[in-house]
Amino acid sequence: MTETFPLRLGVNIDHVATVRNARGSQYPDPLRAAKLAEEAGADGITAHLREDRRHISDADIDALMDTLTVPLNFEMAATDEMQAIALRHKPHAVCIVPEKREERTTEGGLEVAREENRLAHFIAPLADAGCRVSIFIAADPRQIEAAHRIGAPVIELHTGAYCDAHAEGRFEERDAELERLRQMSAFAHSLGLEVHAGHGLTYDTVKPIAAFPEVRELNIGHFLIGEAIFQGLEPAIRKMRKLMDEARE
Ligand code: PXP
Repeated sequence: MTETFPLRLGVNIDHVATVRNARGSQYPDPLRAAKLAEEAGADGITAHLREDRRHISDADIDALMDTLTVPLNFEMAATDEMQAIALRHKPHAVCIVPEKREERTTEGGLEVAREENRLAHFIAPLADAGCRVSIFIAADPRQIEAAHRIGAPVIELHTGAYCDAHAEGRFEERDAELERLRQMSAFAHSLGLEVHAGHGLTYDTVKPIAAFPEVRELNIGHFLIGEAIFQGLEPAIRKMRKLMDEARE
């Protein structure tokens, strides 16, 4: 039987900053959200500093690094600018994601297989600085093998296609995506990679992913921040945590 690992919840606070920036105001403050998330039992905080700074700002990262008591998972594109920022802060974890200016959110996984050499050189100094490097990829054996070859200790599987298929009622596709994610999470684990997952997860879609025994961390943001409007951030997070725990039992 496959060993089941404890499952961490990383709360992504990007969209607190999205709301703040919509008015160019000082509120709502992503740092305050991060502190509430800690109190609600988040095991880590995730924030994506995008090239265009559309949500999280450099000052947010400074404040998170100064204040958080749980680990920061710093999401970033593989650019020199972001590498320099990560090396200055040395967050607990760095997640390398693809980034396109015109996209509304991180649309697909990173094309590791096509850029193996560059990415291997890119992540080496981050790992040397003590950051746990993860690579955000589609559930595709080519990408998983390439992530393994470049020496990344962790992969995060993109759950967006599974969640979109569910939301749009394409249930056969959803089930096929889920099966792909299940197999690829086992495959990545068999290579010795630590497996994380995230993107688009909701109360309706989290349980089947949380039930994969190899998955050690889920990163969830947009849905939780939206749900916070209706029930408050702490209850929204606590409910997600409960569903994750139920799936794990
Ligand atoms: N994981 C990664 C690598 C991401 O890029 C994102 C979105 O920023 C998430 C998880 C969280 O996705 P969502 O906000 O849809 O829950």
